[in-house]
Amino acid sequence: MQASGQDTILDCLLNIKRTMDPTLAFRYSCGHGMCGSDAVSINGTPALLCTATVEQWAIQPQKPQENAFRRTGVRTDDIEAALESASSPSDPSKTPVSQSGDSSASSAPSSDQGDWGVISLSALPGFPVQRDLIADIDSMLEQIIKLKPYLQADGVLATTDEGKVDVFEYLQRPDQLAKYEVLSNCIACGVCEGSCPVFAGGDAFIGPAALVNASRFINDSRDRATDARMDAIDTADGIAACQSVRACSRQCPKGIDVGEEIWQLIAQVRER
Ligand code: SF4
Ligand code: FES
Repeated sequence: MQASGQDTILDCLLNIKRTMDPTLAFRYSCGHGMCGSDAVSINGTPALLCTATVEQWAIQPQKPQENAFRRTGVRTDDIEAALESASSPSDPSKTPVSQSGDSSASSAPSSDQGDWGVISLSALPGFPVQRDLIADIDSMLEQIIKLKPYLQADGVLATTDEGKVDVFEYLQRPDQLAKYEVLSNCIACGVCEGSCPVFAGGDAFIGPAALVNASRFINDSRDRATDARMDAIDTADGIAACQSVRACSRQCPKGIDVGEEIWQLIAQVRER
């Protein structure tokens, strides 16, 4: 298969699916970093398929031990051995393309100048694998939903004396908006959860994505449920479970410094 350095890994997978293996399963929707549906592990690092390019990940692959957390039981030399053997064309049992039912896939695109190298893919860590590159992220979405990720403000959907929906505007200063604006960019992709060694260790920890969404509304001057929101995360499985490893900050596709935001959230909850 031919690929250019600017091709995304999603482009490569679509090409593989069309021309080589129609059974290969992966999830995507918008194709340009907006929906968050295509988070997987690329060379051991959680990232989005649609924004990761071949030259980023194949020419200068980020080694798992330098840039990502590994789940307990996965040794670095095991990963490197798998990368090496997948790149060997002489052994047909080590094909670079995933087979149906596998939870991992590798693509070895080539350019006119020669091989790009190997890109190793697997489903997003920390979640059960549904099939191939598709992880079941329901546990993350349920944790986010539990924290009521919507504005709870006085007067929302108020009606007038005539029974009509009241129309009014919320006034907010730029400095008030700045307190949560970046957090509202979260697309619930799960990259931070896949990077978090605490979340990967069990189902109980509420997880960085849910905490980012809680913080988004706690810091919104219009919201009136701050105390209830803080109570909901002030638990053993909430902020108390965060170990401040900050791996969650490394690959957020929306540029949110997740670890720092959680650190500030913990301070807000403790100081109230
Ligand atoms: S905080 Fe960033 S990495 Fe985490 S779910 Fe939101 S967008 Fe994805
Ligand atoms: S397909 Fe939507 S973020 Fe990648």
